[in-house]
Amino acid sequence: MNHARQIQVVAHRGASEDVPEHTLAAYRKAIEDGADALECDVRLTADGHLVCVHDRRVNRTSNGRGAVSALELADLAALDFGSWKQHGAQERAEAPDWADTSVLTLERLLALVAEAGRPVELAIETKHPTRWAGRVEEKLLELLRRHGLDSPPSVAGPGPVRVMSFSARSLYRVQEAAPGLPTVYLLQFLSPRQREGRLPAGVRIAGPSMRIVRNQPGYVARLKEAGHQVHVWTVDEPADVELCAELGVDAIITNRPAQVLAQLGR
Ligand code: G3P
Ligand code: CA
Repeated sequence: MNHARQIQVVAHRGASEDVPEHTLAAYRKAIEDGADALECDVRLTADGHLVCVHDRRVNRTSNGRGAVSALELADLAALDFGSWKQHGAQERAEAPDWADTSVLTLERLLALVAEAGRPVELAIETKHPTRWAGRVEEKLLELLRRHGLDSPPSVAGPGPVRVMSFSARSLYRVQEAAPGLPTVYLLQFLSPRQREGRLPAGVRIAGPSMRIVRNQPGYVARLKEAGHQVHVWTVDEPADVELCAELGVDAIITNRPAQVLAQLGR
């Protein structure tokens, strides 16, 4: 397959198949692998820092316990977000030496992208934003503004940063405060209206799950006819990569960026 230019390969939580998700080590590996973009989930700590953690609690991905929202950055910094990847004693003994598996702040991830030495885009997902009544978006935009990343550098295409969410309200807040920032509406299920290819006002990128694309392949065509981009998650199996390529999706979000790039002939 050669879809070198057509499909953007986005590393989901970093190169998270091989390296513990949402760690600096996972994102470094994704950049080394040649990913075009990095996906990350963001949550607010009790003291107002944006950190890259998927679950509400840190239990699954660290050696600590508790909700991110109830912990301060210093509490999170004391945890190890890497050792959960090795469960048994033998696995731990043979474990690769991953550097940088402490909690990752969004600020540090922005710095990593800036240090990459080539353009690497960032797809930032706001997690459970309604609970915070706008504070996640407020903090996010404040940070992006500080780094000059709250609007695309040119009108020719998507900027280096986009904001994704399952919450239309979260995307409205972002669009209101930063109209130039591309937004992605994530979809796990389709309502009858959504099946027609309609997205919330102002959103131009749809983010359907691979299950939707597999079960309703006509949906991608309807989105494209409506002039939308299509970014599909989470695409790890070769047959799914093949289907996405056939349907002409714009971005593949994967835990296996190296394998997907190889399959696409890059
Ligand atoms: O990229 C979108 C995808 O990450 C949404 O699902 O649960 O992995 O955050 P989740
Ligand atoms: Ca995500």
